[in-house]
Amino acid sequence: MTEPLTIAMPKGRIFEEAVQLLREADYPLPPEFEDSRKLIIDIEEAELRFILAKPMDVPTYVEHGVADVGIAGKDVMLEEKRDVYEVLDLYISQCHLAVAGLPNTELDPVAPKIATKYPNVASAYFRSQGKQVEIIKLNGSIELAPLIGLADRIVDIVSTGRTLDENGLVETEKITDITSRFIVNPVSYRMKATVIDEMVTRLEKVIVQKERVI
Ligand code: PRP
Repeated sequence: MTEPLTIAMPKGRIFEEAVQLLREADYPLPPEFEDSRKLIIDIEEAELRFILAKPMDVPTYVEHGVADVGIAGKDVMLEEKRDVYEVLDLYISQCHLAVAGLPNTELDPVAPKIATKYPNVASAYFRSQGKQVEIIKLNGSIELAPLIGLADRIVDIVSTGRTLDENGLVETEKITDITSRFIVNPVSYRMKATVIDEMVTRLEKVIVQKERVI
């Protein structure tokens, strides 16, 4: 077997859609792929190696070259600002980044507290609005923060809007739309150009066929 193409896949909400997309592009991922607890999965007949990572870590693996390519949310790309090529919009896992809080609450004019998994994105956003804020970094269940008085607002992903709704929160500002991206390590793109280009072409074809592209 020649050296496989290593793909960093995000575990969690993007995973199933990414697997589906790769299958539609005729990559032979076995049925047990989704159920496995393995973190490295080799598909020898396709000369592919998958590594399953936390979504926020995918660009790190790709930047360091231990993965040649990866699938990462635009939210993660904006937050992490890693030195990788963003080659293709996969139009999967569509959602948006937003500011949210309890209804009918004014934003404290002096350094309101913002809870988020995305400290860099949140700082940049409020700076662009000319507002000074205090960022509180959390790792999940961000919606809890305004409910128990840890923060005045949150910056987080909104997908169906259910989490906000069921916790009595409202979106106050939309920051940006988010989809998942196909990312590539710059050195790999030179060394494994043929196989990476083929993957991009096959993925692109599926995206266009599914009219994901407007
Ligand atoms: C994400 C996000 C929101 C929720 C939004 O959390 O941080 O909490 O999903 O989705 P919705 O609009 O469809 O309700 P995730 O499930 O990734 O878990 P986390 O709270 O651990 O970040």
